[in-house]
Amino acid sequence: SRRITVHDITAAKERGEKWPMLTAYDAMTASVFDEAGIPVILVGDSMGNCHLGYDTTVPVTMDEMTLLSAAVVRGTRRALVVGDLPFGSYQEGPVQALRNATRLVKEAGVGAVKLEGGERSLEQTRLIVESGIPVVSHLGLTPQSVNTMGYRVQGRGDEAAHRLLRDAKAAQDAGAFAVVLELVPAEVAAEVTRSLHIPTIGIGAGAETDAQVLVWTDMAGLTGGKVPRFTKQYADLRRSLGDAARSFAEDVAGGAFPAEEHTFH
Ligand code: KIV
Ligand code: NA
Repeated sequence: SRRITVHDITAAKERGEKWPMLTAYDAMTASVFDEAGIPVILVGDSMGNCHLGYDTTVPVTMDEMTLLSAAVVRGTRRALVVGDLPFGSYQEGPVQALRNATRLVKEAGVGAVKLEGGERSLEQTRLIVESGIPVVSHLGLTPQSVNTMGYRVQGRGDEAAHRLLRDAKAAQDAGAFAVVLELVPAEVAAEVTRSLHIPTIGIGAGAETDAQVLVWTDMAGLTGGKVPRFTKQYADLRRSLGDAARSFAEDVAGGAFPAEEHTFH
């Protein structure tokens, strides 16, 4: 069976179908989501926080993104894999953006790239799309701008809501095939969703967006400490893995592992 394409995603909006997206940062986890039928997998720069141990997404490099995107592509057969363009890999301008988007396609095999910003990334989006690489735009809270923006709800108030809608339309006009809306009021996300012919993908953006994305470690309960209110936890992996590690340690200390069935003579 072939991979999901951008056309399949566009057609889902025409049919009014909602769809899920999850992040992944390694081949094995990605294969689980692929087998579960998740149609779009994002190799998010949230790998900075969730996989590489950074405090923000800001330090993530193109080398890191390329390495882990390639792993996710290798771990999947059916999902459309989207790779994030990390901070500093597209802000200089369209030529830099195209060079790095091309690298993710050629070296990692992603089917699309994502970048933050609407109007401010217009030229980048246009050139990448014209060159044959599908683009997802990311609006609302854009974590690569944490140092100017902080982490708070975006698009509150008429002016901010209007700016968000303008950014979304700019992204659509530049050729983006989908728009992520992160941490924006549900009413604003609903209006953006109605106003665009391309799908919106919400995270902390209410129930009216065309798709929903979650960071997989939050969704599966692997993330330690506090997780955002907009996340729903569908498993308790941190507890299960910790229990498994403690049981292993006890078995080794007590001599219960390895047993006869694990032993060669
Ligand atoms: O990096 C990421 O995980 C993302 C999603 C939150 C959309 O950009
Ligand atoms: Na991201």
